[in-house]
Amino acid sequence: MGAIKRIGILTGGGDCPGLNAVIRAVTRSAHGAGMEVVGIMEGFGGLVNGLWRLLDEKDVTGILPRGGTILGTSNRDNPFNYCVRYEGDQPIFEDCSEVALENLEKMGVEALVVVGGDGSLHIALGLSDRGARVVGVPKTIDNDVGGTDVTFGFDSAVITATEAIDKLHTTAESHHRVMVLEVMGRNSGWIALMAGMAGGGDVILIPEIPFTFVGIAASISERRERGKRFSIIVVAEGAVLPGGEPVSRVSAAGTTILGGVGEVVAREVEARASLETRVTVLGHLQRGGSPSPFDRNLATRFGVKAVELILDGKFGMMTSLRTPDIGHVPIAEAVAARKTVPPDGDLVSTARAVGTSFGD
Ligand code: F6P
Repeated sequence: MGAIKRIGILTGGGDCPGLNAVIRAVTRSAHGAGMEVVGIMEGFGGLVNGLWRLLDEKDVTGILPRGGTILGTSNRDNPFNYCVRYEGDQPIFEDCSEVALENLEKMGVEALVVVGGDGSLHIALGLSDRGARVVGVPKTIDNDVGGTDVTFGFDSAVITATEAIDKLHTTAESHHRVMVLEVMGRNSGWIALMAGMAGGGDVILIPEIPFTFVGIAASISERRERGKRFSIIVVAEGAVLPGGEPVSRVSAAGTTILGGVGEVVAREVEARASLETRVTVLGHLQRGGSPSPFDRNLATRFGVKAVELILDGKFGMMTSLRTPDIGHVPIAEAVAARKTVPPDGDLVSTARAVGTSFGD
């Protein structure tokens, strides 16, 4: 294999703070190593449709603190199952991976950096299995990708959620209310747990620990007996209702969207605890805004490492943080299982030790 002259980068899946920091780091370190960088627009959709442009120094100047992604992204487009047209209301899907691979060749891209979460990394693995030279960079506010201590974007989301809990405390205490905060995280409870602990949440509900309404009401009553007439409940959007399922709906595009568990919890708690209850759904505020210093630095380290992996010919790998070092793991290993909160781990037992209830 001769020296690589041109690499590509795309951002796939939901946006998250730190994407631009990776784009900047990849572009600058690749330029430093004498390679050109192609930015593929709109995630994997742009790869199928051949939307790309060369990135120069001007493109990446000033983007380190900016949220979102200058390349655009999509959490729908999968080249292996791509919507090619509609018949009436029905989307028709086809395998367009061959087109994606041909487009890489047309762009002159000899190696591709895929910055994405679980879904995008699965696609990256598929392209790698089909012979593309791919390196993955794990991003997601959900922190549910294996093979790394943490994904970038998570810290920023936890800061946003913690600030929300701090603010909700004011009204909870002043009005003697139960305030329920629903946070994102898909089917993992990392955001709820880490923000809930940092914000001193009284009850934390996560998908990994089954809860009951009786359990939640009991912990609120105990607090009342100790003279605390308010409570903060932090609930992960993927928390599973007693004896049931997470609360979700199917979008117009046919995807399952989690959300609404906070409202159900609030209704049940109000009925049982006889305390006025209000709900806040934090939603996409958790994905927006400027990345935290931790995320900027992690994203920068991942970006530089991704280019190093390309220069070393280590394809099919994902950058990874094993504190304090940045390393790499096979993408296949990272996506083999979703990373969830260990219910008996140190974090949960620490929270329990300071009086936090998990509603169980
Ligand atoms: O994976 C990131 C995430 O924000 C999840 O926490 C959430 O369930 C989902 O994306 C929301 O997706 P969308 O932006 O399509 O509503």
